[in-house]
Amino acid sequence: MPFNKPDSKKGTAVAPPCVFVVFGASGDLTKRLLMPAIYNLVNEGLLNQDFAIVGINRGDPDEEKFRVELIQSVREIVEGGSGEAGQVKMDAQATAWLQERVYHFSGDITDGGMYDGLKGKVDELLEGKSHRNVVFYLATAPQFFGPVVEGLGNAGLLKKEENGFRRVIIEKPFGTDLESARALDKKILNIVDEDQIFRIDHFLGKETVQNIMVLRFANFMFEPIWNRDHIDHVQITAAETVGVESRGGFYDKTGALRDMMPNHMFQLLAMMTMEAPNSFDADAVRAEKAKVIEAIRRVSPEEALKNAVRGQYVFGEVKGKPMQAYRQSPDVDPKSRTETYIALKLWIDNWRWADVPFYIRTGKGMTARKTEIAIQFKKAPGVLFRDIDDGQLSASRMIFRIQPDEGIQMRFSAKEPGRKVRLSDVNMNFRYSDYFKSSPSTGYETLIYDCLIGDATLFQRADNVEGGWAVVQPLLDAWAAGNDAVHWYEAGSAGPKEADDMLAADGRKWLAL
Ligand code: BG6
Repeated sequence: MPFNKPDSKKGTAVAPPCVFVVFGASGDLTKRLLMPAIYNLVNEGLLNQDFAIVGINRGDPDEEKFRVELIQSVREIVEGGSGEAGQVKMDAQATAWLQERVYHFSGDITDGGMYDGLKGKVDELLEGKSHRNVVFYLATAPQFFGPVVEGLGNAGLLKKEENGFRRVIIEKPFGTDLESARALDKKILNIVDEDQIFRIDHFLGKETVQNIMVLRFANFMFEPIWNRDHIDHVQITAAETVGVESRGGFYDKTGALRDMMPNHMFQLLAMMTMEAPNSFDADAVRAEKAKVIEAIRRVSPEEALKNAVRGQYVFGEVKGKPMQAYRQSPDVDPKSRTETYIALKLWIDNWRWADVPFYIRTGKGMTARKTEIAIQFKKAPGVLFRDIDDGQLSASRMIFRIQPDEGIQMRFSAKEPGRKVRLSDVNMNFRYSDYFKSSPSTGYETLIYDCLIGDATLFQRADNVEGGWAVVQPLLDAWAAGNDAVHWYEAGSAGPKEADDMLAADGRKWLAL
């Protein structure tokens, strides 16, 4: 039996049985996101009785100790409220159900010999079971993705069996540029089939991101105006107040562009701009995304530079608290030129979007945490209102608020009460929390569950990932050639002034954060 509570998700099938192997079991991702997500799935009654999780690290081989410590660290995150899902008291029975199913394997993932030992462990757990299903989750540093898949392949752990699937979930960043992403795909696809690979982009696990498709395609009122005839421009923002924190070692080599653009930001862009797929089938959806990403204008490195602003935060104040400069963060080069902010202007060269600019920005150490997509419609012809007192007719706007304060906002003009015609901008707000009671969620629950049931719709196909890299490659090339000017911005601000200038040159303005 799955762990079952009276309020378990009605109508959602329990996932198939599975051994779930996690590489990087002592890492931050596992403790903060993966394990709390798995706990939430247990609590919702969605995991099979025959579920087992094997954590791999180089630590002490004492399995019982690992089991207790792992659950303890999950408890600290979930009950301490420092996780994504807010502060929740863990259910004693669900916790015990999960703890019983935790196993450990001690080994060094760079040691080729380790994988035969792991095979022994997996076979032991599958012994006498009705299934041979195994998922491998690569929550490791990106340089290990290739070697781990190779190790698994060599040990025969990825061979599909009649009574069992073998799937690999790969974290981001998938490659560091177009060439390395292609090389990684080539290496991995020599070992497994595309349908065994689940490239994760956790933005796709967010309810609000999934809702973009529903809003667009389940409501007939939006589609007719979703095009260049009605839309002036689009702004996509992912602003974070946090700095680089303890991730300096990774981030200083990566930067905001690689960390966020070809993956998270382009997924938002694709959801917002793709054509309606023929079905919710994974390949139908991913083919439409691939098409629109392919249609993003490929420009020369010089042109890419003109349409990009890279910034790095210096000392400032975020929400009333001082924040040290990025360069002063642990494991960051004190002379680092890595960007913590990037803004791009892009075009999609297809019939629906030709000539509509897309302004996309993301940064750390900013004044507010806000992820949103703002669609700015064209202005109505002003003839009727040209004589009104303050003259300015504003354009209507629709904002998808991805996080926090999840919802959708429409902004339009209304008449102020009174004898004279005077216009005022007003908002109409839909808030998820007003309509739906949501279960605590880290955003990884849907993705893990979907992988277990074999639904790859919310995962990235090789062409989606490579397409994203192809768009940013000219800019990476320009930077590599030394054109890597950094524009400084104060922590706690809205980013570098040059990003405002980029929009001002087009007669536009970023929305306030
Ligand atoms: C991760 C990036 O993929 O996404 C982080 O590596 C970033 O740098 C994070 O902070 C943002 O995700 P979320 O869900 O907090 O908006």
